[in-house]
Amino acid sequence: MMGIPQPAFYIFKCQQSAPPGMPKPSCVSQNNPESQELMQHLSQKLMMKGIIGTVQPIQTSCLNRCQQGPVILVEPGHTMYVGLTKEKIDRIIDEHIIGGNVVNEYVIPEQMWGEPVSPSDMAR
Ligand code: FES
Repeated sequence: MMGIPQPAFYIFKCQQSAPPGMPKPSCVSQNNPESQELMQHLSQKLMMKGIIGTVQPIQTSCLNRCQQGPVILVEPGHTMYVGLTKEKIDRIIDEHIIGGNVVNEYVIPEQMWGEPVSPSDMAR
């Protein structure tokens, strides 16, 4: 029997915005008007492509890579994309989500995204 299918991907979009005057950078910023439209753009693009039923966009708070914002995290794959614009989101959807190829140019630099520490090694 077929159950309800899982999403093929979740796309976590950081929607954290620092209060005006805060020096700390954030993914949604007063100084970057495009950053305020990226969540809507992402959802619209998924709808236009007809894949919103299998690719679920999720709004999150800070993903702890604020200096590189705006960021999204694509799961599965643990792929962190940084410095996003509408154009870059379009390419990520076309090439990675639909095409199956990670867009390496927009992936966070390796030194900012090292291998995870296993919780079993960290747990006391
Ligand atoms: S504000 Fe987006 S990662 Fe911190």
